[in-house]
Order: sequence, then structure tokens, then C-alpha cells
Amino acid sequence: MTQRHGFETLAIHAGQEPDHVTGAVVPPIHAVSTYQQDGVGGLRGGYEYSRTANPTRGALEECLAALEDGRRGLAFASGMAAEDCVLRAVCAPGNHVVIPDDAYGGTFRLFSRVFEPWGLAWTPAPIGDLAAVRAAIRPETRVIWCETPTNPLLGIADIEALAAIAHDAGALLVVDNTFASPYLQQPLALGADVVVHSTTKYLGGHSDVIGGALVTADDELGERLAYYQNATGAVAGPFDAWLVLRGARTLAVRMDRHCANAGRIAAMLTSHDRVAEVFYPGLPTHPGHEVAAKQMRAFGGMVSFRVKGGEQAAIEVCNRAELFILGESLGGVESLIEHPGRMTHASAAGGPLEVPGDLVRLSVGIEAVDDLIADLDRALR
Ligand SMILES: Cc1ncc(COP(=O)(O)O)c(C=O)c1O
Repeated sequence: MTQRHGFETLAIHAGQEPDHVTGAVVPPIHAVSTYQQDGVGGLRGGYEYSRTANPTRGALEECLAALEDGRRGLAFASGMAAEDCVLRAVCAPGNHVVIPDDAYGGTFRLFSRVFEPWGLAWTPAPIGDLAAVRAAIRPETRVIWCETPTNPLLGIADIEALAAIAHDAGALLVVDNTFASPYLQQPLALGADVVVHSTTKYLGGHSDVIGGALVTADDELGERLAYYQNATGAVAGPFDAWLVLRGARTLAVRMDRHCANAGRIAAMLTSHDRVAEVFYPGLPTHPGHEVAAKQMRAFGGMVSFRVKGGEQAAIEVCNRAELFILGESLGGVESLIEHPGRMTHASAAGGPLEVPGDLVRLSVGIEAVDDLIADLDRALR
């Protein structure tokens, strides 16, 4: 199936032809580790061992590649496993990477605690500021790592401009597209080389699975990543791959509602007297609004805000919310609230990616928006 079809069509059909034996319209869960060979080396459909390839994972991988308009999709046991795979595959000790100065805390921990001891140097830069990114590049820079929107401050980076900077420097642009999802933003079409996902989030969409993905713009890099995926082995199991694929089928309609609800909530927070500052790229006052409008279909379901009264006031808002469930993660149908400084970004404390103590992050779900607004208003008072 090709990109000539619309996004919603690809989400439901790419990699998901009805089963040729039974006609089942949903790809089966192939809970299997190995495959009978027709004589030594006589593989049926290329299947040999499920770490290397499994039909259920393959269905998801084909769908992910189609949704990102890429050449090769690879599904992993988690978003972190996907990040680990791409860094091992394209970097070597002695190399350097530019990372966002606002990013998921676990990504920062991977660079600072796992890859730095391995010999990979890193420099944080405000990736919305192209001059700052250029200044951070060194002769040994191999990757510019980008999140847009960023987690948790919803900063925006210009993917097309970053791709040009990376390529001029002989580096790759890797974009973590978790917050936007491929429905809202397709970084490969803007020049990125690799897209990373925590499929735990919007792609899965129901807070019932941990998963990750890589999608590449070209076959050669895709083949290299597939080699590392098999060699290091953090693959998505067939049950998890099936759950992510089921979520992906409804991604477009869910995202439309996430975005509509988040837009209403951002507007409500902007005029709330207990709120000091709101971070949402859909607000015309957001410094990245124009770039977001250029490269995104809509502005996403994540909203962050600073509470008047400091860290304790922010923690109390999180504790008082009822409909917004206090918890980490994002991208599920249910709304979540969290305190990044103490929760998702605790590992960034004391470092260059530390987040403000008075910050609250919302993953706006698809419930009735008036109920969500009433809950937040109650929690803020
Ligand atoms: C932007 C972003 N990237 C990557 C990850 C890591 O994904 P996972 O938790 O599936 O390993 C997360 C997790 O919260 C995230 O928010």
C-alpha cells in the first residue's frame, strides 16, 4: 500500500490485508518463536526466528512506515529501546550529539548516564534557536536529536531548517515524534533521517502497552537499524505489536479530539487567575506558533502551565484533580495530570534540562471537554 492513500486509510489497511487462509480482517497474534523450514534454509516468507521477524510485528512495522511516509519501520519493546538502537547504530565512541535543552527526562538520562560513559559527548541546545544549534555543532557531531513539541515545555523546532543544518554538518537529524504522532507531523517529509516513537503514547493510545518504533527515510539506514534491532534484541513482542497496531487504526479520530480538547483547555488556562504561564503551540502568543502551524496539522493534546504560588501550589493542583488522573505517561484516551519536576523529569534535576518546580503537565484525553475544564478549575481553586 502506498502513500497515495490518505492517512486514515493507511492506518487501517497498511500491513493489514485480511488473513489469506481464514479471511480474518484483523492480523492474527503470531505467538511463536520459530518457524518450520522446508529443507535447511528453505524459509517460508523469510521467517526464521521471531527476534529477527514475526508476522504480527511485521504488520505493525509496515503500517508505521506507511504512516510516517518512510521506507522502513521497526518496532521495539519500548521507546527507550528504540532510542538506544538508533544511537548505537549511527554513533561510535568519540562522536558528539546535539540534544534539545528540553526533552523527555529518560532521553536525557540515556545520553548522560549510558552513552556518555560509552564515549558519546553531548551538548544541550535550545533547538528552536537555529543559531544556537549551529554553534553547538562540532566536527565530530553525528546526530542532531530533536523533539518537537518538546516534553514538557512544548517548545517547537523547525524540522526542515534543522535537517539542512544537520546535513551541512554531515550529521543525521533524528526526530522524536511522540508528542505529535504521525497524524499531526511527518518529519521524514521535512528532511529528517529517522523518526523515533514511544508507541506507548498516542500510537497505542489506550495506556495498555509499552512500545517503541524507528522509521527511516531510506532503505540503507533502515537495514542497518534492523541489523542492530536483531543483534541487540529489544523487539516488540507479538501481543504488544498487536495492541499498538489496534491503537494506530483509530489514531486520526482520537488525535482530532485530543487537539480540540487541548485547544479549549489552553484557552481556559490562559485566562485563569491562578495560572502564571501556559505552554501550548496552538496559542498565537507561543514563540513557536508559526513554525508549528507550518509543519503540524494541528497542535496536539499536550498542555503545560505554571501555577501561581510556586512548587507546592503546583503539587496541590496535581493532587486535587479528580477526572485528570495523577500519573506519568501521556497519549491515552483518559486525561492525565503530573508534576514533571517530581515525576517524569526527576532524573533531569540539577542538570541543564531541569524543569521549573511550578510546572504542571496535562495529557488531555478525549472525554467531554466541559467536564475536564470543570475539574481543572476546581483543582486550581
Ligand atoms: C517524548 C518521549 N520520548 C520517548 C519516551 C520513552 O518511551 P517509553 O516510555 O515507551 O520507553 C517517552 C516516554 O515518556 C517520551 O515522552
